[in-house]
Amino acid sequence: MSKSLIIAIDGPSGAGKSTLSKALATSLGYTHIDTGAMYRSVALLATRQQIPLDDAVALRQLCQQMKLEFRPSGSEEGVFVNGEDVSMAIRAPEVSLLTSQVAACSTVREELVRMQQQLGEKGGVVLEGRDIGTVVFPQAEVKFFLSASVEERGRRRFEELRAKGVDVDLQQTIAEVRARDEADSNREHAPLRRAADAIDIDSTSLQIDEVKDLMLKVVRAKLAGE
Ligand code: DC
Repeated sequence: MSKSLIIAIDGPSGAGKSTLSKALATSLGYTHIDTGAMYRSVALLATRQQIPLDDAVALRQLCQQMKLEFRPSGSEEGVFVNGEDVSMAIRAPEVSLLTSQVAACSTVREELVRMQQQLGEKGGVVLEGRDIGTVVFPQAEVKFFLSASVEERGRRRFEELRAKGVDVDLQQTIAEVRARDEADSNREHAPLRRAADAIDIDSTSLQIDEVKDLMLKVVRAKLAGE
């Protein structure tokens, strides 16, 4: 099978992007790039270094100096920043909220979009995010826009965090998902928007495997030149 496609998976938080983009990448032998983890890493570092989240110059510098790697952490896919495994730390609810602010900063977006383009330019990649099909790779051969109801997305996030041992409340998790939707959809720079040529998938009442099969069918048709 050809290894060269660029596959974009965009959509709001908790729609199943992470699980599906990992599963799709594994099935195809592609590299998975979690762009949300990149924004989360910037938010974590900025907080630790006490950089105000509206200081665009300092945040640009932080992005330029940050050494970010995706590599295995135990049996899972890990995120390493300056050599430290931050895979767990970047998923904490307080980091999620701060990440929306960091992701609204135009200098951060410029720097991270450039990194994402470098990581994906050769193809054979599945990138998940909010602006992959619109800004990072408008030329991506396959684009999916994955959504689900806010209650279902909140419930999934709640289960995911609980499974990781994070102490959370269901209603609060739904409220946080709603708040992030608002922030991500209404920000000035690269708001969450579906690309005109993206394929819509509503995963509210679908199982992961059903969505994955649907996606694989689209990808295989593209590889076969249909
Ligand atoms: O997908 P996620 O929940 O890990 O994303 C974390 C935050 O980063 C969320 O507020 C949206 C933002 N984000 C973004 O603005 N652009 C991306 N390409 C990916 C994530």
